[in-house]
Amino acid sequence: MWYFRNPLIVFGDDALEHLREIKGKRALIVTDAVLVKLGFVDKVARELKHAGIEHRVFSEVEPDPSVDTVRKGAQVALEYEPDWLIGLGGGSAMDAAKMIWMLYAQPDTEPYAIVPFQDYDARSKARMICIPTTAGTGSEVTWFMVVTDTVERRKIAVGTPEALPDIAILDFRLVGDMPKGLVADTGMDALTHCVEGFGSTWRTDFTNGPALMAMKLIFKYLKRSYDDASDKEAREHMLNASALASMAWSNGMAGLAHNMGHALGGFFHVTHGKSVGLYLPYNMQYLTEAGAEVFAEAARFIGLKGKTDLELTRGLVSGIKDMARHLGQPSSVKELNIDKAAYEKALPEMVARAIGEASTPTVLRVPDEKDMERMFLYAYEGKTIDF
Ligand SMILES: [Fe+2]
Repeated sequence: MWYFRNPLIVFGDDALEHLREIKGKRALIVTDAVLVKLGFVDKVARELKHAGIEHRVFSEVEPDPSVDTVRKGAQVALEYEPDWLIGLGGGSAMDAAKMIWMLYAQPDTEPYAIVPFQDYDARSKARMICIPTTAGTGSEVTWFMVVTDTVERRKIAVGTPEALPDIAILDFRLVGDMPKGLVADTGMDALTHCVEGFGSTWRTDFTNGPALMAMKLIFKYLKRSYDDASDKEAREHMLNASALASMAWSNGMAGLAHNMGHALGGFFHVTHGKSVGLYLPYNMQYLTEAGAEVFAEAARFIGLKGKTDLELTRGLVSGIKDMARHLGQPSSVKELNIDKAAYEKALPEMVARAIGEASTPTVLRVPDEKDMERMFLYAYEGKTIDF
């Protein structure tokens, strides 16, 4: 038995005004200080006022939110007793909001110990709205969350179906001001989501549709969105693509680029999108033989030409590398100025963490430790995978 879980999606012109329709008394907005300063919180607050809903703001979410931040936010929720939680921001703010929601329902919960198959009864206290301001992590449509253990320098992905937001509001006006670097990082994350979701052995009819459409939109609009912030059409479609891509992976599985990217990000403070996007072409090269038929189908769908599955797969990998170059993203770990000795020192632990992630057994070709280590090393140097 399989499930396809998804929130109500509100999108298009004036999507934010949907907040006027919701019923409730108090909302806790979970966000970061920058979005308060930029006036995004005021925009949300204005709509809540229309609905007669009071609000309070917890704006202490940092990039890669820590366990402590989540606990602090939960404390605010316990004092304020909201009936709506609103996660406003990028993946960090939305993930923190979802975790705060779980801890608000069950205050004894440890953020890194949130698991499926446990009853949090979260909706007995509040429901959840996610409003992304990047395009994006797609966290607004998933029940997964990433929390950082600052002591162990480790990013921990946790999840429970209960943490799936009730409503995702995709208002493209909120992504109009994204700076180029953020467009690039989060766009590469979205691209990785749909490629990994589509290339997973857990792919289904329901995940394949959103994955393919997300890929097509990203290939058409990501460069445009990066080149020209005033290109509203591109920004809107990228916001939609980001949600579609996350519907695909979160109802199936992610893959090796996420596993390796999490490991790198934990040790070297590389942003999520940059690190997963960097490893993606290497992973696809590794999966090529086992996955050529699958990747070729995607390549054909987005309009690439080739005589054989192998040729089409190689074309898709080249297209992704070209995209990364266009967006000023690194194509090797070396380009990130990470010291090789430090990288090699962290390697055994990075390999163990990447192998240990839940999606490793679900990829089209499952690497052993030796292959995983070689992939990390080839990606450092920028070498094409030949094993
Ligand atoms: Fe991601």
